[in-house]
Amino acid sequence: MLAAGAASAPASAQGSLVMYCGVQEEWCRAMSTTFEKETGIKVAMTRKSAGEVYAQLRAEASNPRGDIWWGGTGDPHLQAAEEGLTLEYESPANKDLQDWALSQWKAAKQRSIGIYAGALGFGYNTEQIKAKGIPEPKCWADLLNPKLRDDVQVADPNSSGTAYNLLATVVQLMGEDKGFDYLKALHKNVSQYTKSGAAPAKAASLGETAVGIVFIHDAVVFAVQGDPIRAVAPCEGTGYEIGSMSIVKGARNLENAKKFYDWALTPAAQALGAAAKSYQVPSNKNSPVPPQAPKMNEMKLIDYDFVKYGSSAERTRLLTKWDKEVKALPK
Ligand code: F6P
Repeated sequence: MLAAGAASAPASAQGSLVMYCGVQEEWCRAMSTTFEKETGIKVAMTRKSAGEVYAQLRAEASNPRGDIWWGGTGDPHLQAAEEGLTLEYESPANKDLQDWALSQWKAAKQRSIGIYAGALGFGYNTEQIKAKGIPEPKCWADLLNPKLRDDVQVADPNSSGTAYNLLATVVQLMGEDKGFDYLKALHKNVSQYTKSGAAPAKAASLGETAVGIVFIHDAVVFAVQGDPIRAVAPCEGTGYEIGSMSIVKGARNLENAKKFYDWALTPAAQALGAAAKSYQVPSNKNSPVPPQAPKMNEMKLIDYDFVKYGSSAERTRLLTKWDKEVKALPK
């Protein structure tokens, strides 16, 4: 009887884990199913953009449903940390991590850790640009070309971590006034603000838009598979993300969240990214960097101030200002 009972024990015998996942669906699925297979812990995973997960954690604060938030840009993770929505944790894997991953951990007062890095840029459809007879865009300034009217896509920074990274990047790169002037001018060319950050890359690969402002690795995915899209690191310089992971404060499955956290930082788990066609730079020093990953050390990167732009006050202020001064503008 006992033996039969054990043999038919459900996969959830080890309990469960509710995962909010912030990367591409395919990588999210690879992470949840592999972890489930290796541990017997049943994973309920949902994919959401970074701003959306942050908003969900806030809404659920008095009755948390999630256990682990894995992936998504670092800024909303920092805001959640500051607001006490996530939990301090020190993984034994910390000793193997890149400095930038640990700087996220320190900035978050141990409530978040870097799991990958990626630089911001854009992807353009080579056929569309040729058809328009305009020079290939290489710089942020090139995206203001009137011939690109209604032919640029970017996400909404309220929902998307990518688009908030753009907002914070132009403010740091150009100064706040000029940065907002730039976003207002860009607004004329934006056909739609999508919900998820990577959606404009797909649209550009299909020729549904001439340009998609995205993390460069999200455009590279389509270039690698032979689509007519070219990925660009803008000539003026650009920002970057520290993709992050945090444990939800009040997690019902805290031990399983910690197990996932430690596992997700191992080279074997991090290698699932490239296998799922996600080409970010992994945070464990012993994880292989996918050969397709954009070479961040060859780009002009700004010294992104994660502490400032991940702070609750600054992120809220910039988003409110963007809503009022950019999104509300007539076209
Ligand atoms: O997985 C793709 C990716 O660009 C990540 O690198 C990034 O952290 C995340 O998506 C951001 O997604 P969103 O802009 O939808 O919040």
